[in-house]
Amino acid sequence: MSSSKWDQKYEAAPGGLFGNSPNEYVREIAARSDFAARTGLCLADGDGRNSRWLAARGLQMTAVDLSAVACANGERLDAAAGVRVERIAGDVEDWQPAEGRRWEAVFVMYLQAPEATRMAAVQRGWIALDAGGWIVVEAFAKAQAAAGNGLGPGSLDLMYDLEEFCAWLPDAEVVEALAGRIGLDEGGRHHGLAHVVRFAARKY
Ligand SMILES: C[S@@+](CC[C@H](N)C(=O)[O-])C[C@H]1O[C@@H](n2cnc3c(N)ncnc32)[C@H](O)[C@@H]1O
Repeated sequence: MSSSKWDQKYEAAPGGLFGNSPNEYVREIAARSDFAARTGLCLADGDGRNSRWLAARGLQMTAVDLSAVACANGERLDAAAGVRVERIAGDVEDWQPAEGRRWEAVFVMYLQAPEATRMAAVQRGWIALDAGGWIVVEAFAKAQAAAGNGLGPGSLDLMYDLEEFCAWLPDAEVVEALAGRIGLDEGGRHHGLAHVVRFAARKY
């Protein structure tokens, strides 16, 4: 989907397109006894529900999203929440962090995009990780295309397969690689039972 299409969606939802609470998997990872990241990067972060929540927990956060409107909404919601997130409007396919800049955790949540784009996000996120860092992804699985309940991007091309992660990140130390159904309750758009993938891995 083009940036202008996403801009239109975010213009219509100034309070948060997917609500203003973090994704449950982000909460679960952050609550793990072995998760101690102090810095985080959220790619395709939208209007920032996840980076804002992580910032409120004390992580120094950076976020990238294609939609300038999403970034502007995110900055306003950050200010209302009393946190600061470095928000960058950019395409994950060509955004590059400054030379040598690294983060201790990278999150790619619900980037619904063609394979080349989602691979670029995951691989760029991996390169941007410090040693010991975490990469965390949740998104609609290809099985969602046949579910017929209106959830997800509708096109098989924009959904994930767990096997992709093995090909994209051959050196990852996998912590979890799960495909299954979960009840989503994230604003009006992500509501109901959905087939998803959840992937978390560390870089050593
Ligand atoms: C379903 S939303 C999820 C937003 C956020 N991660 C969340 O969970 O609330 C997908 C987001 O991906 C962004 N996006 C799509 N293609 C992108 C790209 N090539 N580069 C950066 N962001 C992209 C959209 O602008 C949109 O904000």
